[in-house]
Formats: sequence, structure tokens, C-alpha cells
Amino acid sequence: MNHPTPYIRPRRLRASSSIRDLVEETQLHKSDFIWPVFLLDSAGMKKEEISAMPGCFRQSVDQLSNQLEPLLSKGLKGLAVFPCVPENLKTNDCKEAYNEEGFLPKALSLLKERFPNLLLFSDVALDPYSSDGHDGLVKDGVILNDETLEILARQALVHAQVGADFVAPSDMMDGRVAYLRSALDSEGYQDVGILSYSAKYASSFYGPFRDALDSAPKFGDKKTYQMNPKNIKEALREALLDEEEGADLLMVKPALAYLDVISEISKSTTLPVAAYNVSGEYSMIKAASHAGWLDERSAVLEKLTSIKRAGAKIIFSYHTPEVFDWI
Ligand code: PBG
Repeated sequence: MNHPTPYIRPRRLRASSSIRDLVEETQLHKSDFIWPVFLLDSAGMKKEEISAMPGCFRQSVDQLSNQLEPLLSKGLKGLAVFPCVPENLKTNDCKEAYNEEGFLPKALSLLKERFPNLLLFSDVALDPYSSDGHDGLVKDGVILNDETLEILARQALVHAQVGADFVAPSDMMDGRVAYLRSALDSEGYQDVGILSYSAKYASSFYGPFRDALDSAPKFGDKKTYQMNPKNIKEALREALLDEEEGADLLMVKPALAYLDVISEISKSTTLPVAAYNVSGEYSMIKAASHAGWLDERSAVLEKLTSIKRAGAKIIFSYHTPEVFDWI
């Protein structure tokens, strides 16, 4: 037998942990992470585990504050805050979304007071406040675009007033970034940023989040505003529009099933790209590792690394607290 022996040997660069470390291309840093949390309107120490998201809780601000102290000393940079709104405050006009006396604004201002350096990302969308469970105003079964913009702007202004560093529109209405930018600027909040959920897909991976907030649509689905998972050009169009309209950060959501979208957008924009490692992606790993089918730590670190490798600088992940013990 006279076959050639390989003279190019990529395995040389994998031969020891020293050489592997030396040629490593992607590292996760604590400063990459934003931790999404679910807030309860409740005094004192209260927390309830979310059954579809083991290890994640709906919790009161005091309870959350306790958990935050150690995380901040480990280097946590920011929170994405989602309110659990009681059913009796959900209406068709979503007016609780911009109630200055509502519990979310109070919670945000408390968090800002207690942790001035912690960045607060507030979600701008109507679903937690909507009796229809939709992200926009609903009339005769139709999600209204332009009428929704005004409500989103009022919501964003309330968040800005109480200390949100970034408002994060996750509603997918057309023109909302420009509308919010202009509303914020005209009220003197030119320093409040906009993280736009630019490419937000109509995904089945949001299921556990909707359980957590009890915010699933009461009729139909979100396909007239969230994007079709089959499309990528459309994602690019949405992202570039948001950049033009004045977004500071662009988000792709979900992350794992959309790594190609993260990659494409990060090559086409000069803005930092964020990715949301959503609830379903979290719960799948939790369930599999609970059943003993996956090693949780290595699976989580591998998938988060893949999100970063695809081009996301910022990762929203429910795994954040445990990841801080691992990296
Ligand atoms: C809604 C919103 C959703 C998530 C964040 N903001 C759900 C939805 O669009 O129905 C999902 C996040 C997750 O699944 O972790 N504005």
C-alpha cells in the first residue's frame, strides 16, 4: 500500500489544553450577559418558581435585590425586566402599560436607586397589559400599527422617567424605533438608548415565557407582526431599517435556531448585535439535563459560545446566574 501520509495535520493545534487555549477564537465574558427577570407586584420577600422554567422565578423586587448583590459583585452589567401583570389590570386599551403609578415603574426606580450602575432594559410591548395577549392594540381582531405606536411611546417615556437605561421594543410594529426615538428626544431623554428587537420571529420557543407571564394571545397568533421563521432577507431589512431609524443595539430573537440570522445581521451593521436565548431554549436544556440526558454546564456553555461565535456581542439569557459561577 502506497497511500500518502497526511503532511498537513490540524490536530497539532488541538494536541494539548495549552495549545487549544492559545488558538481559541471565542470567549464568553461576564460583560456579555443581560439577565432577564420576572417581577411580581408584591411587598417583602416573595418568589414563585416558574414551572416551565425550572430555576427561574417570578419574584418581588426585594427578593430580586437580594439575588442581585452577589451577581453585581461578580460583574453583572444589566437586567431585562418583565412584569407579571395581574389579570384584572389587563385591558383592551392597555392603559396599565403607561401608568406612572404602576408597579413596574416603581420597581424600576427602586432598582435604579439600589443599584445605580446596573443597566436596566425595559420591555416595550403591550402583551403583558393586553386582555387580548397581543403586543399591539387590537380592534376587530386586527393588530393596529400606528395607534399602537402612541401607546408604546407613552410606555417608553414612563420607563425613561424612572431610570431605564435602554427601552427595548419587542412588539415588531412598523416605525416604532423612529417614533420612540423622537418621543424620547422631545422629552429630554436623548441619553436613553433603544435596543430594538429587530428580527423577532413568530417562534414556538416563547412558550415557557408566555406561561410565566400568562401572556399568550387570546386569539390567533402573532404572525402578522413577528417574522416568518422561513425568512432571512426580511430580517436584514428589519435590522437595517431599525439602524436607520436610530436604534443603538439590534436584537435577534430567538438565538439558537437563528444563528445564521445573527451572523448575517452582524456582518451588515456597524451596531452591536444582541441575541435573546429565549425561554424555550433554556427549558429544553434544563429538562434534558434534569433527565440525565445532557451535561448541563457543558451544554449551556457550548450553546452560549455558539451564539457569540455567530456574531452576538450581547446575550440575553436565563442561564446568566449559573454561568457566572462557571466562567
Ligand atoms: C413579548 C415578549 C416575548 C418574549 C419577550 N418579550 C414573547 C412573545 O413575543 O410572545 C419572549 C422571551 C422568551 O421566550 O424568553 N413582547
